[in-house]
Amino acid sequence: MKRAEYFADKEFKVGDVDDKVFSSFTEHLGRCIYSGLYEPGHPEADDQGFRKDTISLIKELGVPMVRYPGGNFVSCFDWTDSIGPKENRPHRMDYAWASIETNEFGLDEFVDWAKKVGIEPMMAVNLGTDSIRSAGYLVEYCNHPGGTYWSDLRIKNGHKEPYNIKYWCLGNEMEGSWQAGHLDAKDYAKKALEAAKIMRWVDPSIKLIASGSSYEMLPSYLDWDRTILTELYDHIDYISTHAYYMNKNNCVGTTDYLASYKQLDTHLKATQTALDFVQAKTAKKKTIQICLDEWNVWNFTDIVFNKMEDLIGMTTFKMTSAEPWEIAPSILEEQYSLLDALTLGGLAITLLQHVDRVKIACLAQLVNVIAPITTKKGGGILKQSTFYPFLLISKYGRGEVVKSVVRTPQYDSVYGSLPIVEAVTVFNKEDDTAAIFVLNCDQQDDVEFKAELSHFGNVTLMQHIVLDGADLEAINTFENPENVVPREIPVQAEEAKSLTTVLPKLSWNVLRYKINER
Ligand code: AHR
Repeated sequence: MKRAEYFADKEFKVGDVDDKVFSSFTEHLGRCIYSGLYEPGHPEADDQGFRKDTISLIKELGVPMVRYPGGNFVSCFDWTDSIGPKENRPHRMDYAWASIETNEFGLDEFVDWAKKVGIEPMMAVNLGTDSIRSAGYLVEYCNHPGGTYWSDLRIKNGHKEPYNIKYWCLGNEMEGSWQAGHLDAKDYAKKALEAAKIMRWVDPSIKLIASGSSYEMLPSYLDWDRTILTELYDHIDYISTHAYYMNKNNCVGTTDYLASYKQLDTHLKATQTALDFVQAKTAKKKTIQICLDEWNVWNFTDIVFNKMEDLIGMTTFKMTSAEPWEIAPSILEEQYSLLDALTLGGLAITLLQHVDRVKIACLAQLVNVIAPITTKKGGGILKQSTFYPFLLISKYGRGEVVKSVVRTPQYDSVYGSLPIVEAVTVFNKEDDTAAIFVLNCDQQDDVEFKAELSHFGNVTLMQHIVLDGADLEAINTFENPENVVPREIPVQAEEAKSLTTVLPKLSWNVLRYKINER
């Protein structure tokens, strides 16, 4: 059996895990909102039409904040369409997803829904096709107490108290040719700066997130960040980036797809380097943080698309599952396999390794559209395979990440030679526990994993949860909803003491330790 010795030291802290890294994202896209969050007449619908079965799974995931309303959608969206009496709201063509938006669920409904779920809303403003003035009016509608046109309109619409929405994205993926109203970096920076000024005049307490670069293959990658950061540095708190990993038709292959965590690591380091470069060059004291406000595995099964490079110059996404201009079509409804869940588990490990700079992260998305939760219109609800690694990091990944190194054999990947296990340790001072999340990438062998937990004191291994299986293509379905679920491996007394356990081949593991004395 192969061996891994893993050293983690409590005295060397990487950073506190901001709870907001377990956030998610809902967009007016396909059935995310309609028949995902909202379905009046459904047996599970409450008095406002919100699906209680969806709410209960989101609560189970422990999601603290949800980004809204897009995504590409936001760049075509006029938020004023989505408020006031429902019968007066217009049907509009959403150019981003070639769908019809009925506006039956809008801004006020989202805030009401968020309150019911107990999550914090995070808003994006349209800096593509809309104006900086509209962005200011939106903040006024949401956050101003009253006595002005837009705040009084909110009150008239039944919401006396201001929403006090704190986190605001200055547009979405503005670097991309697919974005309605796409701009080059200089023009985006100018528009974002003017929007930021107005939004902050309305409410100085808000936090602003600039739309950074996301896609390595775009010629503007990172130059975009350098340019916009130079212009916007004093006006923003975060820069956003997005990261999706795909294995469409197995074009990447199991080994390299599973190793996507390494590409995310490179990507986050690159974003951080751009931030550090501008900070050093301009001698600014303030540190801007990273907001990874879209991340996931996404195989683009529904889009005519082969590889990420196809994004260059792209202006339209052609769907295979719907004709243009349907209302809430069933698009981008990925069915996630065990392999996808393992890959997502690996990405989650990387995310936690970067908590010193990544302070917000949103799994994209939450319901139906590339999501861990799938609903049936008029029917039931399903936890996809990817539900589980996200649930487990959200449940056991809170606290502080400590430094660690691993001594283990390597494997070859498109990213070079990598250790066969990838791991991260989170120390939770509140309940005197620690969790090691570890991916065993070895496809042939189990790995004996010995944890050396320096300065943790007297520690015992108390729980071993594993996600693995014989069939990497296995998926959860409404007929067989438990095809891919984690299992618990009983911890033997000897393992508890020696902190040595066996990681099954090709598995994602949560090892939980009790700190008996410090
Ligand atoms: O999450 C789906 C889409 O992916 C979002 O609308 C966009 O921001 C990204 O390209």
